[in-house]
Amino acid sequence: METKILSGRELSKKILENSRKKIKEFEKKGLRNPSLAVILVGDDPASEIYVARKHEACKEVGINSLDIRLPANTSFEEIREKIKMLNEDENVDGILLQLPLPRSLREKTLELIRIINPEKDVDGFTPFNFGSMAIGIEGAIMPCTVKGILELLRYYDINVEGKDCVVIGASNIAGKPLANVLINLFATVTVCHIKTRCLSKHTKHADIVISATGVPHLIKREMVKEGAVVIDVGITRVNGKVVGDVDFESMIGHASAITPVPGGVGPLTIAMLIENTIDCYTRRNVTGK
Ligand code: GUN
Repeated sequence: METKILSGRELSKKILENSRKKIKEFEKKGLRNPSLAVILVGDDPASEIYVARKHEACKEVGINSLDIRLPANTSFEEIREKIKMLNEDENVDGILLQLPLPRSLREKTLELIRIINPEKDVDGFTPFNFGSMAIGIEGAIMPCTVKGILELLRYYDINVEGKDCVVIGASNIAGKPLANVLINLFATVTVCHIKTRCLSKHTKHADIVISATGVPHLIKREMVKEGAVVIDVGITRVNGKVVGDVDFESMIGHASAITPVPGGVGPLTIAMLIENTIDCYTRRNVTGK
């Protein structure tokens, strides 16, 4: 079987180019450029890399990005006040709190997310936006990873309606929102997670397997049905090399389509952050909706 490689890099370039053009139009109309505040607490090396990519993409398309760095020992109250200040700032269109937070603050994650003004919530993580997405409200701000996967499936003409989809990982960032969106698209969805007893029992029968665990090479050929579509959301650094959740090489000639790591879902997540920022900007500054 021929295995199609689903390139997120190719599609993300087109999306970023389109975003750059949109922002040029705002500039021509004399409007200010969109702006995104990215808060990074602590010095987690993986988060440093992701955040650097987000700033680079902003620069590429003409979004002003504010690089807000706070030390790992910053208190909950200090972060809360920072978010409140950004909520009030008329010149800030989007607020992103990079996750995970340092260990000492982790249990406060949801409390901090809830403080972000939903109109500036470019991640779609606040209860209002997450709920709107889950119940299928059109135009709801969708988490960037989820939106990126949907764009990729659409671009390569892969329809999820009526398909058996297995999502591995139940995080608030990827697994949970993804499962909700797939249900709204009439897929039959199974969500596996850390307590799932026999993973392969579920994955073996799936038409589409989407893994978002961060466990390198968790998904192997024998766990996946021949001809299945495999989407790899994992990005983990092992001995200086970026690897996904899926044993990519073993899937060649077995899966009908697969996303590579790097160059699959990752670049699309960034492109969707740019789109969400432009959306928040447009709603606040152009359409007033
Ligand atoms: N950490 C890993 N992915 C994401 C994301 O999409 N948004 C935020 N805020 N943090 C993340």
